[in-house]
Amino acid sequence: MSKLFSPHQLGSLTLANRIIIAPMCQYSATDGLASDWHTIHLGHLALSGAGLLIIEATAVEPDGRISPYDLGLWSDETEAALARVLASTHRWSDMPIGVQLAHAGRKASVDQPWKGGGQLGPDAGGWQVHAPSPVGFESYPNPPRPLTKDDIARLVAAFAASAKRAVRAGFAAIELHGAHGYLMHQFLSPVSNRREDEYGGSLENRMRFPLAVLDAVRASVPSGYPVGFRISGTDWVEGGWDIEQSVAFAHAAMARGADFMHVSGGGLSAKQQIPLGPNYQVPLARAVKEETGITTIAVGLITEPEQAEAIVGTGEADFVGLARAILYNPRWPWHAAAHLGASVKAPNQYLRSQPRQYSKLFA
Ligand SMILES: Cc1cc2nc3c(=O)[nH]c(=O)nc-3n(C[C@H](O)[C@H](O)[C@H](O)COP(=O)(O)O)c2cc1C
Repeated sequence: MSKLFSPHQLGSLTLANRIIIAPMCQYSATDGLASDWHTIHLGHLALSGAGLLIIEATAVEPDGRISPYDLGLWSDETEAALARVLASTHRWSDMPIGVQLAHAGRKASVDQPWKGGGQLGPDAGGWQVHAPSPVGFESYPNPPRPLTKDDIARLVAAFAASAKRAVRAGFAAIELHGAHGYLMHQFLSPVSNRREDEYGGSLENRMRFPLAVLDAVRASVPSGYPVGFRISGTDWVEGGWDIEQSVAFAHAAMARGADFMHVSGGGLSAKQQIPLGPNYQVPLARAVKEETGITTIAVGLITEPEQAEAIVGTGEADFVGLARAILYNPRWPWHAAAHLGASVKAPNQYLRSQPRQYSKLFA
């Protein structure tokens, strides 16, 4: 019996299997509005048989976009555009779709990666960026302005408002983006947070903003609605955010009603030294799970069916997140199920593609 293809709870949501499509920015929105690209891209991933699809970092206000081409969920128009994409996708797939709510802070206002990804100043289609402290991301030319307490209160409210929109638009779960050096991570890490008020200094103070966001989002969604965090388990930098602080954060978030931790790594500093290789971030997810018991998603260079099966089979994590491997092969779950002798859901229109030797592949 494959554990990878057994159902499991993510909060109140039952996922058909342990495979989660990790959020992936598409840099293909205009003014925050989802486009036909999103219908095509999410539509085909929704036919993949995965347990959950989490869509790309979606900004809670225009200045929180990583690039001018990011999705947004800050207005009736951006909500309607995403609701349309979800309605089209759900007409043909019952795969639950979650959203990653985000603010990029000092890493905002960059170009599309295929155009170099450099930071854009206000005179080049970009904007003045903001962060906990006036400390820029090393390689970026435009230093951030520090957020005032009023700004912080406005941002907490913006996350809450976007959460309400996410529920209305038809998303089944919310992942709060606290990873990869974006705004909430900038508050958590002592490398980027040099504040001297109640939002900086001690671990308790650095956690204050992300936990306030969690409280506000929790209060804005129906009871039992799945809400969790994506975090970087470590900055991979000496003296930065690390796994001990991640465990403490997971404890605090769990106590305030977080349902899951999606444990990634890095992205905060250009000085990071990442020991890249298969499973390189799995020990971070395992530590969070072992120490807190919270539901976890492990992610990072998980590419092979046996590898994914081993991670959930040995209890290192409850779910695996796949990004590049499932873009490369959007039927990854079908091939994994065939390999592991399990079953997976396929659309009726494709049932005849089942290879003869896998006669029980399509459930
Ligand atoms: C094209 C692309 C876009 C990404 N966009 C996001 C994003 O919006 N939010 C996020 O948290 N991570 C993002 N990531 C990181 C992935 O979710 C994932 O954590 C990372 O690629 C490692 O997993 P993998 O080895 O399976 O690709 C992105 C990765 C790729 C390849």
